[in-house]
Formats: sequence, C-alpha cells, structure tokens
Amino acid sequence: MLAALGAATGSAQQTHSRPWLNPELSAAVRAALALAQMTTDEKLSLLRSASANLAGPKRPTGLVQGIERLGIGPIRETNAGLGIAIPLEEDAPTSEDEAVALPAALATAASWDPELAYAAGAMIGEEARRKGFNVLLAGAANLARDPRNGRNFEYSGEDPLLSGTMVGAALRGIADRHVVSTMKHFALNDQETNRTLVDARIDRDALRESDLLAFEIANERGHPGAVMCAYNLVEGVHACENRWLLDRVLRRDWGFRGWVMSDWGAVHSTVPAALAGLDQESGVEWDSQVFYGAPLKVAFEQGALPTGRLDAMALHVLTALFAAGAVDHPPQPAPLDIDADSAVAERAAREGIVLLRNEGNLLPLTRSARRIAVIGGHADTGVMSGGGSSQVIPIGGPALRVPIPAQAAWMVFDPSPPLRAIAGKAPEAQVEYADGSNVTAAAESAQRADVAVVFATKWEAEGHDSDDLSLPHGQDALISAVAAANPRTIVVLETGNPVLMPWRDQVGAIIEAWYPGSRGGEAIADILFGDAEPGGRLPMTFPASPAQLPRPEILGRDNPWKHVFLVDYREGSAVGYRWFDARKLTPLYPFGFGLSYTHFRYADLRVEGGNGLGATFSVTNDGGRPGFAVPQLYVRAVAADGSMLQRLVAWRKLRLNPGETRTVTLTAEPRLVAYFDSERDGWRIDPGRYPVAVATAADSPVLQTTVWLNARTLPP
Ligand code: GLC
Repeated sequence: MLAALGAATGSAQQTHSRPWLNPELSAAVRAALALAQMTTDEKLSLLRSASANLAGPKRPTGLVQGIERLGIGPIRETNAGLGIAIPLEEDAPTSEDEAVALPAALATAASWDPELAYAAGAMIGEEARRKGFNVLLAGAANLARDPRNGRNFEYSGEDPLLSGTMVGAALRGIADRHVVSTMKHFALNDQETNRTLVDARIDRDALRESDLLAFEIANERGHPGAVMCAYNLVEGVHACENRWLLDRVLRRDWGFRGWVMSDWGAVHSTVPAALAGLDQESGVEWDSQVFYGAPLKVAFEQGALPTGRLDAMALHVLTALFAAGAVDHPPQPAPLDIDADSAVAERAAREGIVLLRNEGNLLPLTRSARRIAVIGGHADTGVMSGGGSSQVIPIGGPALRVPIPAQAAWMVFDPSPPLRAIAGKAPEAQVEYADGSNVTAAAESAQRADVAVVFATKWEAEGHDSDDLSLPHGQDALISAVAAANPRTIVVLETGNPVLMPWRDQVGAIIEAWYPGSRGGEAIADILFGDAEPGGRLPMTFPASPAQLPRPEILGRDNPWKHVFLVDYREGSAVGYRWFDARKLTPLYPFGFGLSYTHFRYADLRVEGGNGLGATFSVTNDGGRPGFAVPQLYVRAVAADGSMLQRLVAWRKLRLNPGETRTVTLTAEPRLVAYFDSERDGWRIDPGRYPVAVATAADSPVLQTTVWLNARTLPP
C-alpha cells in the first residue's frame, strides 16, 4: 500500500515537477510545457536523425538522441509498411532482425477491408514496440500512377479514396500501439527512375483531386505523427522545401500537427527548407552535408531562422511523441507473438488474393485430384517479396536470398512454400514439382497430371521501375507450354504490379496473389482448394498494353544522373481507371475487378441526392457457396480541368451465405463528387444531375441511375 502510495506520490511529484509528463494534459499543452524547458541546443537536437554507424541487431534506420533530463527518450525509427525491416547490411541478418512479413500493401488494399488494414497496422506497430522502436516509417500513400513503378507493392493502388482509406486505417493501427506512424512520400513520388531528379508537373487542382486527396483522407483517418517529404521536385521545388506542399496544404489546409521529416537524402538546404516547413533532416549522412546540424544553429544565431520557427519545429516533434503515447508508453523489448502476427499476415494475403479467371469452375480444386503438377516460381521454396527499404527478413530467415548488386538489394523469398501447402490440402494426391527451367519437362509433368498449377513471379524493388509489363525469364512461354499440355492449368501470379498475360485465353484459371508474405503459401492453398473464398478486387487497373498508358515509356531512364527532368502528369487526376474510362480504353482487367466462387445479384437501387449522395440497393448471393461481394459506387462528375471523370465514391465488402440477401446503403465521400477550385479555395459541387452506378468493377455497372445534387462547397 505504502509502495503504491509512494509510487503515486512519486508520479504526482513527477508530474508536478515535470508537468509535461502528466498524461491528463493534451499533447499540445505537454509539448509546449516541455519546449519551455529546453535549451536551444536541445531543440536543435530533435531536428536531425542519424542512420550510419548504428550496428547490431534491431538497429534503427534513424536515431534522434532524447532529452533524458526532461524524461524524453531517444526517437528510434524503423521501416516500414510491410513489417519491421532492419537495414540490410552486407553481413547476414541475425535472428533478432527477423519479423513477420505482411503481404504487399497492394494485397491488403485488394481486400478492400479497412478493418484488415487496421489489424495489419496494429500488428507491425506492436512488433515495432517489442523491437524497441517508437517511430514506424510506414503509411506509404502514393498513388500507383504508373503500373511499372518499382514501389507500387508498397502502395495501395490507383484510387484516392481506396488508398486514403486503407492507408488511414493502417496508420491508426500503428498509432494505437503507441508508435508514431509516418505518412509518406509526400508528394508525387510516383516513379523510381531517377527519383531524386524528377520534377513533377501537374495542375494543382488536379493534384488535389488525386495524389493529395489520398494523403488528405489518410491523414484525416490515420492521424499520422509524422509526414515524410519525398525525393522529387514538385513544380521545380524539392518536395522537402516546397512551401506550398508543406505549409499551405499540409499545415494550413489539413491542420497537420505532427512533424515533417525528410526522406533519407532528400534535403538540399538549411534555411529554405526550414522556412518552407521541413522540421527534421533524416539520416543526415545521406545528404551532401548535415544541413540541420551546425548550419541550422548558425542560421538561428544569425536570425535567419526565427525563434518562432525553431520552436515550431521542435514543438511538432514533441506533439507527435506525446500524441502517440510514445513518451508515456516507451517501447518495451519483448518477444514477438509470432503465431498471432503470422495469422494477421495470412489473413491479409488470403483476403487480398484476386480471382481473375475461372473457366468451367476449374477452381476450387477438389481434394480428389489424384495428380497435381506444381510448376515454377520457386514454389517448392517460398513466395516472392519486394526489395528495398521495406524488405522484411522473415521469421526463420529467407527461404532464398538472391543478391541483386545492380540494385543494391536482395530478392528474398519468404519461407512459405506453396508446394508444401498444396500437398497438405490433398494428402492422397501425387503432387509433383518441376522448377520450370526445363519447359519440356514441365509440360510433360502437366500432361501426366489432372491439373497443373504454374507459379509466375516478377520481382520489383525500390529504386527501380520495371522496363515493361511482361513477366520475365521466359515465364510466358512456360505457361503457354504447360497450358498446351493440359488445359486444366491454373496460373498463380506473385507480382508487385500488373502484368501482361499473352496466355490468358489458354489457361483455365488465374489468381493474383501479389507478394503474399510470411504465410503466403498457406493463403494461396486456402483459396485454390476453396477453404477460403476469393474476396480480393483489383486496387489498380491491369493494362492490356503500355501503349494505353499516359506515358508509354517511363521518362528519365537515359537521363544522366545529374540533370533534373520534367515529368508532366498531363492526365491530371485521371489516374488509372479514370484515364481508361475517359479514353474508352479496354484494359486487360479493370480496377475493382475480381471473381468469386459464387454469384451475386443486385437490385432495388434507390438513390438520394440534394446536399449529399446516398445509394441503397440489395445484394443477393444466388450461388451455391458463401462468398464476398464488394459493390462499388461510382459517380461521373466534372473535374477541375473540365473533363467528366468517373470516380469511386463509396464501397462495401460483405460476406453472404448462399441465398442470403442484404440491403446496403452507401454514402458518397463528397470530395469525390466535387472538383477542386483553388481560385475559390476549396471543393465545389455544381448543381445538376449526375450519373450514378453500382458496379462490380470500374467498367461493370450492375445498377444505374442519375441523381440531382445541389450546389455545395467544402473547405480545402
Ligand atoms: C528510403 C525510402 C523511405 C524509407 C527511408 C528510410 O529511401 O524512400 O521509404 O523509409 O529511405 O529507409
């Protein structure tokens, strides 16, 4: 009793003598109280992180020394959005560097289930805490403007509402584990080719209606503690010293209260960056000099950096730390809950798998199959993952780790072999594996089998974009040969982007499994054998050819490493399906597409307009199995550039049993119906009659009508 009292008194004393440690006070008040105690050097010490010479297991990607005398511990930052990614050094990672690998963010996005995104964020947030980190560099919200972008596997697709909603949920999951989350890469970091030299040009209103709207929604829903500004330039100014982005949009329009950190190596000045809104230089060793070290102090002492701005920079860091609970609940190193965390990863992989083709209901496989040929994709070893700073070293270590020196990365296979999972589903069957290196042998194996399952992979990594949309290493020929030998061929794609499928009409079934993470093999087998229903829907368009894209060639490839070059996003906010719709292009597979093992019927559409837009309709599972329906609500409305663009304005994911009918009401996010008008400083909906559709994909309306909407304005 006395001890407890002592502790209570102690904490009372503690918060009396150090009121900023009083959890009863708001984060803003606590930050102001702490700031008032700080010396100039202490304030400056919060404004840069180191990333070199951080050896040993669980080394942070960025480290900021704390202010011990004030009870504020060090800031230990780690990557990233797909799990805890320790910087890969030449030496083999230790088991302490291992973590549970989520599937690609595209897979979680393909689930269209924000609650799943939240669970995935909470899982990696907790793993960060248990590994001693209090900042997670996750929450990548860039739109997939180009389907060859090497980092699309870290992003949530081409649509601002889907991306913003899914990333926002993940950010909230991380923050609820008392870890500062980081929304990145702000903004228009939409290609990897010479990413530090891209000068992105786009009409500002169109930018608000697309990439920035994804960040805006993610920020509203996820309340990130930090925002990471990007490598590229926007309108000729580096993103990390772009006052319009960092001050006008992020602070004044969106009310962001956390701190702006740079990407690693993305800082190019001291005073211009500080005055534009950059609060913290990340990984100072990556820059040409330490801009936020001595030069920042000199700038302050000489008055070039006003006291108010220095205080604001430090205040943003402190506010985010208090708001996330990172001060009150410092990381407590503990073992990972591997089973529970792996179950989250498996669920995300399973619910993100998209069934693209299923001729003659070849899937789900029955357990009575006597002979199953499994071919290619290292399916006997594991499943593919993406390279770069988000690379997780999976629990138990990589099943396969191939160094890719040209890209300073590793191709890592997670130890979840589909072959083992498939054999486990059909213990009576004879399951034969051919690695695919010998096409004839693979075809002969397929010919002898009841069914052939061909795995095809395409590795993507940070720092590089794909040259094309094709599967590499002769996999197209392998698939064609196997399909010619056995029409009951199933293709399982493990890719980080859309791919072309010249063999599409020769095969029986196709599933897109993305990079499926630590339990990917099990998730794939669950779907193949019908132990789980395919509920994934494409978060990005699969083009039929690069010629259909706004830029058939990615710009800047042959650009010498020194010259800034322009990328003119002339498509404006017509990203992905909006572009295909506006130009009446037919993709290979459209945004929002995905088949089920059952069938759904939609009816009784009623729409309400006026000052909002609501749609009510019924969904019936009129097939023989349970299944996921993902009805999507689209509106066609005028964009800032005057074009009429189709936009996703709402959706619902629901699981229905055979014969079950559910009435669904969807309410449109109004900014998706509006256009942005910077002249009048906000969003506008003009009065008029708008086409509305309930759809099962961007190009597949199942219920259509029009609705009258009143004039409306919304704040920026
Ligand atoms: C990288 C990435 C960023 C990552 C950071 C730290 O270059 O752009 O996503 O969080 O540096 O590794």
